[in-house]
Amino acid sequence: MKSTNDDPILVTGGAGFIGANFIYYWLQKEQGPVINLDKLTYAGNPGNLAGLKDNPGHIFVRGDIADRPLVADLLRHYQPRAVINFAAESHVDRSIHGPDAFIQTNVVGTFHLLEEARKYWSELADNNRKNAFRFLHVSTDEVYGSLGKGEPPFSEKSGYAPNSPYSASKAAADHLVRAAWKTYGLPTLTTNCSNNYGPFQFPEKLIPLIIHNARQGAGIPVYGDGGNIRDWLYVKDHCRAIRTVLAEGRVGEVYNIGGGQEKTNLEIIHAVCAILDELLPDSPWRPHNSLITFVRDRPGHDLRYAIDSDKIGRKLGWRPEESFASGIRKTVAWYLENQGWITRVTGGEYQEWLNRNYGERQCTEEE
Ligand code: NAD
Ligand code: TYD
Repeated sequence: MKSTNDDPILVTGGAGFIGANFIYYWLQKEQGPVINLDKLTYAGNPGNLAGLKDNPGHIFVRGDIADRPLVADLLRHYQPRAVINFAAESHVDRSIHGPDAFIQTNVVGTFHLLEEARKYWSELADNNRKNAFRFLHVSTDEVYGSLGKGEPPFSEKSGYAPNSPYSASKAAADHLVRAAWKTYGLPTLTTNCSNNYGPFQFPEKLIPLIIHNARQGAGIPVYGDGGNIRDWLYVKDHCRAIRTVLAEGRVGEVYNIGGGQEKTNLEIIHAVCAILDELLPDSPWRPHNSLITFVRDRPGHDLRYAIDSDKIGRKLGWRPEESFASGIRKTVAWYLENQGWITRVTGGEYQEWLNRNYGERQCTEEE
């Protein structure tokens, strides 16, 4: 049987922020179904996929990427033309407080997923299907470590120098993916992307946290002096880049994806607060930037990330479409319109974790 673009793909971590955005995007653009394997950790929320309830193109399976028999069954049963691995523990602060889960999912889980994909791929009898198969691993620019101000952005040639347990675990996974290609010829692709923002991001990450706290008149915690720099990309642009790399990327290669929108954390906070001031004229907390609270810095806090997207631009024609000004406005509006979503995902387990690890510190402690 020849592989076609209508064949299924297996997406892992599709109930999380980027994975959910990717599945919506994919199903608008492609015919083939998506098998979504997600463990539903605190960050995975089936509600993110509620818009696909009646869409037969989305098949949800609750499970762990490290569960080899389950992964083997899914591959055998659905015969996907690609695996796209989003599943991960993704929050740097959590990795500082409890790195174990990061090693288990990001390193061990990715290893097991790779091994089962390799077995499935090597046993494909049809050469067309075998040649067409791809394992796309979604990774981060944080594996490259931290840039000084004025240093050139990270390229695919930059050395790995991860500084947090999160970035170290992602770096380890990237190396396993590389080894699967170099040693066994598994047709892999790796993407290293900068900070994403947009709908469905868990409100422990900076941008949704600002909106969530500002809505309640709680402090907006700024680590250190707020001068750390990130290169922000609207999530839909990331999803488009992944689809492009899957279709046209050269096997075994790495593609860096960035927004070309470097901002300090304070610039981000002021931008979000200004939009909140405008969209919430009756808020008792205006001006919302009066809620800024400087707190103790994150240990090992990387100063600056910036991505050189020249390769994916030149070779595959991808460029970000959303400007920061338009993307951040859409994003703030989405969180204001989806207050119920925030309430649901910040209930229960998340609050317990926050209280256990931060107590009151995150919103009240001055430097
Ligand atoms: P997220 O934390 O929002 O979602 C992760 C998803 O993976 C959740 O649905 C969770 O339930 C699931 N998951 C966790 N462990 C699992 C396991 N063992 N088996 C199956 N599912 C599991 O993360 P995100 O922000 O959507 O990031 C997705 C991927 O993109 C990650 O690999 C991350 O490293 C990478 N990335 C994220 C960013 C960013 O700015 N968020 C930037 C670059 C790269
Ligand atoms: P985050 O969203 O956690 O992403 P990452 O650490 O992967 O870049 O943080 C983005 C930046 O915002 C980072 O420099 C840390 C900073 N930050 C704060 O200042 N306060 C906060 O409460 C959070 C969550 C992050």
